[in-house]
Amino acid sequence: MLLRRELPGDADAIRRVHTDAFASDSSAGPVEPALVEQLRADPGWIPQLSIVALDRGEIVGHVVATRGHVDEHPALALGPIGVRRAAQGGGAGAALMHAVLAAADALDEPLVALLGHLDYYPRFGFEPAHRHGIHPPEPGWAEHFQVRPLTAHRPEITGTFRYADPFTRL
Ligand SMILES: CC(C)(COP(=O)(O)OP(=O)(O)OC[C@H]1O[C@@H](n2cnc3c(N)ncnc32)[C@H](O)[C@@H]1OP(=O)(O)O)[C@@H](O)C(=O)NCCC(=O)NCCS
Repeated sequence: MLLRRELPGDADAIRRVHTDAFASDSSAGPVEPALVEQLRADPGWIPQLSIVALDRGEIVGHVVATRGHVDEHPALALGPIGVRRAAQGGGAGAALMHAVLAAADALDEPLVALLGHLDYYPRFGFEPAHRHGIHPPEPGWAEHFQVRPLTAHRPEITGTFRYADPFTRL
């Protein structure tokens, strides 16, 4: 497996990854493929933090982190992350998580936030956000709203998290 940054020309393959990863019985289809495209056109897009996983030359997974804020402090929002169903369980998801967190750390970002399962993300260092004085944009998210403090984290980064605009239009 190979991980690298998204390159020009990857957009169609990334769309197919999320269409497959988030497929459900809903006739409307998943929102994630369009969300990624709206994020790519948004000022919150950070090219260094859009990462693909390739298996034998084919893109099988993708993750992106985009600009968010904790009150007035810049921070990152992680997601979507998706791995094609045929490739799930093979370590691509974990590799993408480690890669995007390391890239964010290298960019001196202070923390990464996400809404996700408590049985998956803590293995990557995520903790319930309220332990760091950070609140989700929707109070009902409670424990599932998690943050991963990075090297540049400072305890004064507290407040309410705000995502890039495309998330708020979901
Ligand atoms: C979540 C996802 C990216 C993980 O990718 P992956 O390549 O299957 O992950 P890995 O092979 O690195 O790790 C597999 C582990 O993740 C766990 N896992 C996978 N999806 C999970 C989920 N939605 N919730 C909780 N745990 C999950 C598996 O149970 C397995 O756990 P184990 O190591 O304890 O056995 C992938 O399953 C996926 O695309 N799911 C559909 C889209 C999605 O739900 N994305 C996350 C929300 S944005």
